[in-house]
Amino acid sequence: MSRAERIFCVADARTHAQRRMPRVVFDYVDGAAGSEAGNRLNCEVLDAIRLLPRVLINVEERSLTKSFLGRDWGLPFGIAPMGMCNLTWPGADAILARAAARHDIPLCLSTAASSTIERTRERAGENAWFQLYVGHSQEVSMDLVRRADEAGYEVLMLTVDVPQVSHRLRDLKNGFQVPFRIGPRQFLDFARHPSWSLGTLAAGVPVTANFTDYVDSKSTDKVFKAWVRNEGRGRIDWQFLEMLRESWPRTLMVKGVLAPADALVAKERGVDGLYVSNHGGRQLDSAPAAIHMLPLIRRAVGEGYPLLFDSGVRNGESIVKALALGADFVMLGRTWLYAIGADGEPGMEKMIEVLGEEVSLAMAQLGRCQLADIDESLIFHHETAAGTAFE
Ligand SMILES: Cc1cc2nc3c(=O)[nH]c(=O)nc-3n(C[C@H](O)[C@H](O)[C@H](O)COP(=O)(O)O)c2cc1C
Repeated sequence: MSRAERIFCVADARTHAQRRMPRVVFDYVDGAAGSEAGNRLNCEVLDAIRLLPRVLINVEERSLTKSFLGRDWGLPFGIAPMGMCNLTWPGADAILARAAARHDIPLCLSTAASSTIERTRERAGENAWFQLYVGHSQEVSMDLVRRADEAGYEVLMLTVDVPQVSHRLRDLKNGFQVPFRIGPRQFLDFARHPSWSLGTLAAGVPVTANFTDYVDSKSTDKVFKAWVRNEGRGRIDWQFLEMLRESWPRTLMVKGVLAPADALVAKERGVDGLYVSNHGGRQLDSAPAAIHMLPLIRRAVGEGYPLLFDSGVRNGESIVKALALGADFVMLGRTWLYAIGADGEPGMEKMIEVLGEEVSLAMAQLGRCQLADIDESLIFHHETAAGTAFE
């Protein structure tokens, strides 16, 4: 049995990825801010939400098609932006792009990806979105926006919840850095994970590919001059957002919004949709569980305003819960890197299949054939059960 064949749920993929990858890489993917309580809370709160089964409804013909941003997608979930994915498997970015095209799901390419804006658009076509970080050079950032425009991207996603990369203790202890550097501390770690080391190091240490164009050829710091993970990204403000709104001709979304008040302002400033997320617990350890904020933000922005959700989703039922609580579409982060870290492309394929099946099975139990019919009435509120359960 291959490793992919042994993936029956996200936890299996995580286990296999942990075995195959060096600790420094697994911890980069799996880790979170501070005590990591925020990350655990995202998952625990989602798990604690209960869905009320409905019976004797013909659910034989179920569809996983989901409409969002004016088009139909093959599944109701997609790939959240993640930097340096190629550390998990050589060509992981290409695997993600092919999966996006094959299953007709969105892939949000990170500013800090190991593949360029242009190459990813070629690989994933209209399924590719571009996520923007604005670092110290606004000039470079706006050039990335120009490149995304010229490459034909439909969706630009501005991430706003990283004014400063927070303390990710595992990364600090392991000496993890971007640009990725191999120090003496990593040698033993790599030696213990020969399958990863032979593949990934032989393919060449991944770089932040979008920045190679901006490098001063005389610089000794080579490709990394324009992208330093820990540099401040806290300079942008609402005025910057307005400027970006004016310069981006198509769909502009903002990622990393938790406060309903911020959601309202973003909507008023002409943003086309919001991505409710606490960055998978990787930024403010004490932030509320993202799923707790989702219905509040839905209430603030009203029905019909596009909302994406991520943070803590580890199974199909959680995808259904997010849809029921106001999301139009759900993204997953770590899950995909566990799957690819476990077994490359077959791992990714298996994970998509598992999650799709889990969503479909949940729909069957809930008496819903269409994802558009997933709504708040499916959430079981224990405290008010007498009022809702018997309607
Ligand atoms: C390894 C890794 C790298 C990430 N890099 C980025 C990034 O470059 N840009 C961004 O907006 N979010 C980034 N994120 C956050 C994800 O887009 C997403 O919000 C988060 O992973 C969702 O939580 P989940 O992992 O619990 O699904 C990263 C997350 C991980 C795990």
